Amino acid sequence: MPSIQVQVSIEQIATAAEILRRGGLVAFPTETVYGLGADAENEDAVRRVFAAKGRPADHPLIVHVANAESLDEWASDIPEIAWRLAEQFWPGPLTIILKRSERVPEIVTGGLATVGLRVPSHPTALALLRAFGGAIAAPSANRFGRVSPTTAAHVREELGDAVEMVLDGGACNVGLESTIVDLSSGAPTILRPGAITQQDLQRVLDRPVLYGGTDSPRCSGRLESHYAPRATVELLDSQDIVDRALKLSRQHLKVAVLSGHAPVDLPRDVEHLPLSSDAESCARDLYSALREVDRRACDVALVTLPEETGLGVAIADRLRKAGGPRNRSEDD
Ligand code: TXA
Ligand code: MG
Repeated sequence: MPSIQVQVSIEQIATAAEILRRGGLVAFPTETVYGLGADAENEDAVRRVFAAKGRPADHPLIVHVANAESLDEWASDIPEIAWRLAEQFWPGPLTIILKRSERVPEIVTGGLATVGLRVPSHPTALALLRAFGGAIAAPSANRFGRVSPTTAAHVREELGDAVEMVLDGGACNVGLESTIVDLSSGAPTILRPGAITQQDLQRVLDRPVLYGGTDSPRCSGRLESHYAPRATVELLDSQDIVDRALKLSRQHLKVAVLSGHAPVDLPRDVEHLPLSSDAESCARDLYSALREVDRRACDVALVTLPEETGLGVAIADRLRKAGGPRNRSEDD
């Protein structure tokens, strides 16, 4: 079911573009998650993005552009396969890592020689990019290490007054961050799974696309502890959920179960939060559900991993990160 699109006015877009031109920060909807945007060529503005998120300076930001035609302004040595992916999947939830051009300040890429580029498909994001005219550096609009926002209200919860304007484009349709594919060296490699799947990329490129290891530096989306709510997330087989919930609630812990239907024999003091087993709905609603777990002050959330095919790969990736060991010094 498509999410409700809240209309953003032309005046709001013009105001937002003006804020970016002045070096201010604007949060805006994309089809994946909300982004915290700054003029990619304004180093002070980009510095403010890192400060607002509490993100270490060596974690690179994705650069958003209005269309693929301007790709060679922001990247250099662009391989033919990058154009093919851009033509097929942009605008859309795919970030392509390429060698950066001189035009991208080093602060955006955390000192790396490469840059992540993406043309988002959300109409508000595209309208903002066109009105602004330049490139917008934008990480997800959450505090570092927290769950990405998929509504304007989530952005306010996360960033409060640190952002001058939040464009409200409704709930994000995809709900998980873009697929990141590295084309800057060697074989095409997925650094972060998303709605554009390995099969999608292989079909268009007609060659194998690999998954990156988990040891790549400076890719915050790949820290084991990323995307974490405050509650502990436990991943279990569905037949074990009720027993586990019972055990935890006997220990006086507040427990939430995230699943399509509430298990019939779930203890009464355990919260049930609906999370569809349909992959698209699950991806769209996952981060809201994790926020709800925290809002209800649950200590533990119990959830079953989806089948790891197609979009299920990205959902499982984010659930594992939510359930991964916490590294508070990195996370908060
Ligand atoms: O869907 C998305 O990609 C959202 C929306 C707002 O576009 N953005 C997003 O940005 O998720 P962020 O900053 O939260 O995650 C970007 C990820 C980080 O893990 C970062 O390390 C990685 O992309 N990244 C950016 N540039 C990179 C580069 N040059 N090489 C390797 N990884 C890079
Ligand atoms: Mg992020």
